[in-house]
Amino acid sequence: RVAGPCVMVLFGVTGDLAKRKLLPAIYDLGNRGLLPPGFSLVGFARRDWKDQDFAQLTHDAVKAHARTPFREEVWKQIREGIHFVPGEFSDDGAFDALAMALAEIDETRGTGGNYAFYLSVPPKFFPVVVEQLKRTGLSDAPDGSWRRVVIEKPFGHDLKSAHELNEITTSAFPESSIFRIDHYLGKETVQNIMALRFANNLYEPIWNRSFVDHVQITMAEDIGIGGRAGYYDGIGAARDVIQNHLLQLLALVAMEDPTSFEANSLRREKEKVLKAVRLPANLGLNTARGQYSAGWQGGEKVVGYLQEEGISPQSTTETYAAIKLEIANRRWAGVPFYLRTGKRLGRRVTEVAVVFQRAPHLPFSKDDTEILGQNALVVRVQPDEGITVRFGSKVPGTAMEVRDVSMDFAYGESFLESSPEAYERLLLDVMIGDPPLFPHQREVELSWNILDPIEEFWATQGQPEPYESGSWGPESADAMMARDGRVWRRL
Ligand code: BG6
Repeated sequence: RVAGPCVMVLFGVTGDLAKRKLLPAIYDLGNRGLLPPGFSLVGFARRDWKDQDFAQLTHDAVKAHARTPFREEVWKQIREGIHFVPGEFSDDGAFDALAMALAEIDETRGTGGNYAFYLSVPPKFFPVVVEQLKRTGLSDAPDGSWRRVVIEKPFGHDLKSAHELNEITTSAFPESSIFRIDHYLGKETVQNIMALRFANNLYEPIWNRSFVDHVQITMAEDIGIGGRAGYYDGIGAARDVIQNHLLQLLALVAMEDPTSFEANSLRREKEKVLKAVRLPANLGLNTARGQYSAGWQGGEKVVGYLQEEGISPQSTTETYAAIKLEIANRRWAGVPFYLRTGKRLGRRVTEVAVVFQRAPHLPFSKDDTEILGQNALVVRVQPDEGITVRFGSKVPGTAMEVRDVSMDFAYGESFLESSPEAYERLLLDVMIGDPPLFPHQREVELSWNILDPIEEFWATQGQPEPYESGSWGPESADAMMARDGRVWRRL
């Protein structure tokens, strides 16, 4: 899969995402030979910079964060296509200069008027940037060329604002030119959920309410909010990752098989599942929210959320969220899906665990069957990417004793190929114009539809329950599972 010649215009070049993910991903694509000939990278920011300053920032970001080794010839290829346009988003002159710079790049590098505009900026700037792209005609693709816009979450704050944001974006770009990034869909292990389910005949017959007891989707992080107070406060764990990453995981795990992996077929199946999601009647008992307090992590003393720089000491923003959902369709009726995420938890791990019902009868001694867990299939999204199946096995010896064991698939052992970073895959897809791994606006809105009532309920609940940094979250999350006679998986 290779892209044709094009320009990537990056708004927000000095941001964290650009430095840690986007610029290194561009380099890694170059290193894998996947950047198109003539590829050019234009940075736009409110800095009094020349091309060489942006090149320096890119160089530093690549050196610090690229996954592939630094090679001078790859860097040289990228460096040749680097340009910088200084300016404010509200400055017409700066956007006129951008349009001129792009026309010149087309002349000198043969990029043919193909531009991807990557808005790595807070959503409050979307309207003005989109307006400028419209005013300068940059959003209109002349015949034979393309114009695409890439937007990063958060896609709004709730259903209403997501809708408004979309109105703004679609006023300048047709839906087919809008690429909404949910970087979890760019992860190998996440795409592999589809391969696991639909390339095999082993799992699908038992992937339903007749065999599955429940599903647990966990995204645990050991980091706190770092320098992201401005973004995170008032948003919280559920809007930050459940609305997007975890509901996308749920959709992939629960959807029916798409007729193909073409965007419309795949999105349609995800939408059907999201539409069938039901909230429990009692949100107080079936959701949990927490906020990290001081504690120890990785041998270091860390402060609580309320003491983080830039956070109001009265903040009611949650840094941990757990919710129980059901899916009202024939395959899943009555099977709970438990979703949880949190910052400053015991360790960084994301996984999807499909937990099966117990065998209907166990002809073993009572002692044995008491220690036997439920069968589970666990997709280890990260780290230690792979899949584990947990099942009972005979303990070697002269008695018929049984115990849980694991069967593991690990990427590193089965494949020589290394996994591209999520952003590498997604940036390449943008340049190629391949949309399946980008959520449609309908998915975004269906996900807000699920979250909005929970957020509204939480807004009436005051302070989230504190949990110690380095622990596994608030007690109310364990109590929520215990009421259902279940426990969170120990990670
Ligand atoms: C982002 C969230 O979308 O995902 C962050 O905004 C979170 O809060 C990050 O830390 C985690 O991504 P990953 O790829 O490290 O799991």
